[in-house]
Amino acid sequence: MKNNLILTGFMGSGKSTLGIKISYALRMALLDTDKWIEQKEKCTISQIFASQGEAHFRELETQYLQQLFERKDSQVISVGGGLPVKAENRELLKKLGFVVYLQASPQTIYERLKEDTTRPLLQTEDPYGRIVQLMQDREGYYLEGATKVISVDGKTIAELEEEIKQAYLQFQMQRRETK
Ligand code: S3P
Repeated sequence: MKNNLILTGFMGSGKSTLGIKISYALRMALLDTDKWIEQKEKCTISQIFASQGEAHFRELETQYLQQLFERKDSQVISVGGGLPVKAENRELLKKLGFVVYLQASPQTIYERLKEDTTRPLLQTEDPYGRIVQLMQDREGYYLEGATKVISVDGKTIAELEEEIKQAYLQFQMQRRETK
């Protein structure tokens, strides 16, 4: 098992922002799967959804995840919101390290993303309804794929950063003790 710090959660739960903060604080490299896929595929996630469909994007997510096993140093990895839905991906994530699920309410997500145009899955007449539905569908997968669940509602970025760092450091200590 590897020792990466992995952030999962719904779109808008704070994975990217917290990933940046924590990687800086712990002096670890940062990898955001969405940004990585966009760079390598030379197009945006919205373009991939539009031209090749969601199923193709899900294939790419798994392919890119598999490549992370080749990396020697531990990283902070924030993953796309739908990535843990696939059982294969959940298994890969657990093998890649400590998986933190950033749990948020639909209201929190809606407030953050109501003006957003970059998430193809939320470009609908009723984004709030879509958020509620997707969350219901995904909650079990997020929980199943997590080593640690952290609720983000009502907390500041600084508070969350601290909570995640402490959880990760504790995880590392426990691993060392059981070796
Ligand atoms: C998705 C979440 C997005 C991105 C894509 C699909 C999802 O990532 O991967 O739009 O299915 O929830 P963020 O969670 O970083 O927004």
